[in-house]
Amino acid sequence: MHAEDVPLPRIADDVGTPVYVYSRATLERHAQVFREGLAGVPDKLIAFAVKANPNLAVLRVLANQGYGADCVSIGEVRRALAAGVAPDKIVFSGVGKTHAELIAGLEAGIGQFNIESEEEGLELARIAADMGLTAQCALRINPDVDAGTHDKISTGKADNKFGVPIDQAGQIFGKLASQSGVNLRGVAVHIGSQLGELTPLERAFEKLDDLVNSLRGAGHAITHVDLGGGLGVPYRAGENPPSPAAYGAMVARVTKDWGVTLIFEPGRVIAGNAGVLLTRVVRVKRGIKDPFVIVDAAMNDLARPALYGAYHDFVAVAPRGADMTANIVGPICETGDTFAMGRLTDRLEAGDLAVFRTAGAYGATMASSYNSRGFVPEVLVDGDKYAIVADRIEAGAIMDAERVPEWLT
Ligand code: LLP
Repeated sequence: MHAEDVPLPRIADDVGTPVYVYSRATLERHAQVFREGLAGVPDKLIAFAVKANPNLAVLRVLANQGYGADCVSIGEVRRALAAGVAPDKIVFSGVGKTHAELIAGLEAGIGQFNIESEEEGLELARIAADMGLTAQCALRINPDVDAGTHDKISTGKADNKFGVPIDQAGQIFGKLASQSGVNLRGVAVHIGSQLGELTPLERAFEKLDDLVNSLRGAGHAITHVDLGGGLGVPYRAGENPPSPAAYGAMVARVTKDWGVTLIFEPGRVIAGNAGVLLTRVVRVKRGIKDPFVIVDAAMNDLARPALYGAYHDFVAVAPRGADMTANIVGPICETGDTFAMGRLTDRLEAGDLAVFRTAGAYGATMASSYNSRGFVPEVLVDGDKYAIVADRIEAGAIMDAERVPEWLT
């Protein structure tokens, strides 16, 4: 198995395992396909959701494609800027932006703050006015739509913490729009991630359609609408989430009379299938029923299966032409450190290499150092060359940041 033209065993030998491997060509293709899908939308900004993959090199690839960045912390804003994203292409979302983050965002001159509450909007207005600035803002709406995805990644139901309830949006918009320090120019919505159907998105956008009309009716100038991200990707053969083209056609239809700049915040659909987690089999252990294939990657490196019961394809780098049914597990001392139970996979032996597919989004970025395992490195492949774009951070380096106070001796 290769990443573009680079054999994965070469990366494993040079960099060690586990390691995340991304393809530049795939990132670029996905960025282009997503943009082409939106050909029917005349005026748009596509802002990659940095949380999906904040690696600087990945962000640079997308910045070179003209993408902006959707950020949810000042740390992400700094990454986007460092990767070369122009400040005016940065959207600052996030349900709990701190006072310091609001100041830093204003200082950085970011393009749009997506305000998550009346309280946050008033605070931002005060800060901006004190700084003699005007913050460009949209109000995030909670449309009360069930995205039909995993509960932990649904964000648009009434009892989720995100945005302001749609039935209070007019009143809150009016109050915030009258503040100096902010130019409230639009609304934003994001109902969830890994959506397998367009219907919930369409319902949310239809609700925005009504809202935009009523806000305009109340005399507000609406020039920007942020439609968020959420388009699902196939994690296994047979899964058929809506294509960017189908998504784009739906968006173009629903928004055709809006006359605004539309903002999109795709994450997974750009990065998910542009990366794998390359791992080596530590050993194969007999089980009561199926054997346990113990790999050197664990839930701290790829959290999605443990957190959401998520499925990731798992295949050998050099298949032997035989299958096995196995439990795929990591070395961490938790039963949750299980990638798959009773999975039909390539026959694997100790020392073999394998990959978890569709690991380019919400992979490395969700890693922790649990069990004192350090952080996995990241590699970006480009044709027949590759570069280490994030060093392995050894457990020792993390320990070096700790100290035992003198008074404990
Ligand atoms: N915009 C906002 C405001 C978001 O909260 C998110 C994702 C996105 C855009 C990008 O959504 P995407 O296009 O990637 O679906 N860790 C979870 C996913 C959490 C998504 C959080 N918000 C996972 O591994 O499935």
